[in-house]
Amino acid sequence: MALPLQVKIVEVGPRDGLQNEKQAVATDIKVELIARLGDAGLKAIEATAFVAPKWVPQMADNAVVMARIERRAGVAYPVLVPNEKGLDAALAAGAREIAVFGAASEAFSQKNINCSIAASLARFAPVVAKAQAADVRVRGYVSCVLGCPYQGAVAPAAVADVAAALYDMGCYEVSLGDTIGTGTPAATQAMLEAVARRVPLQQLAGHYHDTYGMAIANIYASLELGVAVFDASIAGLGGCPYAAGAAGNVATEDVAWLMRGLGIDTGLDLDRLVAAGAWISAQLGRAPNSKVARAWLAKQAQTAGA
Ligand code: HMG
Ligand code: MG
Repeated sequence: MALPLQVKIVEVGPRDGLQNEKQAVATDIKVELIARLGDAGLKAIEATAFVAPKWVPQMADNAVVMARIERRAGVAYPVLVPNEKGLDAALAAGAREIAVFGAASEAFSQKNINCSIAASLARFAPVVAKAQAADVRVRGYVSCVLGCPYQGAVAPAAVADVAAALYDMGCYEVSLGDTIGTGTPAATQAMLEAVARRVPLQQLAGHYHDTYGMAIANIYASLELGVAVFDASIAGLGGCPYAAGAAGNVATEDVAWLMRGLGIDTGLDLDRLVAAGAWISAQLGRAPNSKVARAWLAKQAQTAGA
């Protein structure tokens, strides 16, 4: 199949990236990061999570973040919501898009959201219906699509079951999360083929963590099947608090470079993207976890010094 001509990147750094930071990240920094990501051309920026603060303290300033970000025309600012309490808080904070999140692994579902897969789906159904009644779009996530930190292997059929349940519930898109980044291209394609038998391929997104350095290869494997939406995290920030050792999502800069090389339009400005990644990395006291960003910055420094 020909590769897509255009790809949408969903930036998850302010949520998936920062949720795992041990140090407190000031709300000001989150707000400025979201503005810089908008400047770089991102059209979907996951801004925060309305989850229990005792589970994920880093997202406790969710309502303040939502109140303070500048909402640009044409840019979506989805937020994570695990239950009706989270939905009510997200609606009160003016969210126009939410994401519910389930898992293809029972063990991960218990650790992450403290309930079984079946109970989570039963919990999401009224959340999705209430969001839709408020004219709020709902995205769905499935975690552990290529492996679970507690259970090991996850069958593609199990991923397809949860993805189909979320889609049938009314999620406009289902994002497939390789939470621990153990996936490889052949496994990614086998999983996508199983899911695409139940959910239209155009409604699927790839959400690949880069723990084993395979995320870009898995994105390419997904492009080959026609997937045209990918989640990414600026400077490769992040991990998951319930998947020890998991690295961040694939870096947005790396995805932008791949797409540029393939002639696929993303609408992203690589200079601004790299600058945003360098900025947030400096705020966190480290270098960007993106090979593209590091090479780009080194080249810029060389040019400036020449
Ligand atoms: P629980 O403890 O079973 O919930 O947690 P509960 O209903 O018994 O409530 C316990 C307490 O939390 C109560 O407070 C509730 O009011 C409060 P208390 O009475 O003890 O003071 N509470 C809330 N507070 C604020 N907002 C809420 C909320 N709900 C309850 N929405 C729960 C169940 C789902 C709430 C909890 O497990 C939770 O918040 N989990 C979130 C875990 C999380 O955020 N994980 C990371 C994101 S998922 C991810 O990263 C994967 C992804 O990137 C894809 C991939 O890579 O695979 C999406
Ligand atoms: Mg994730």
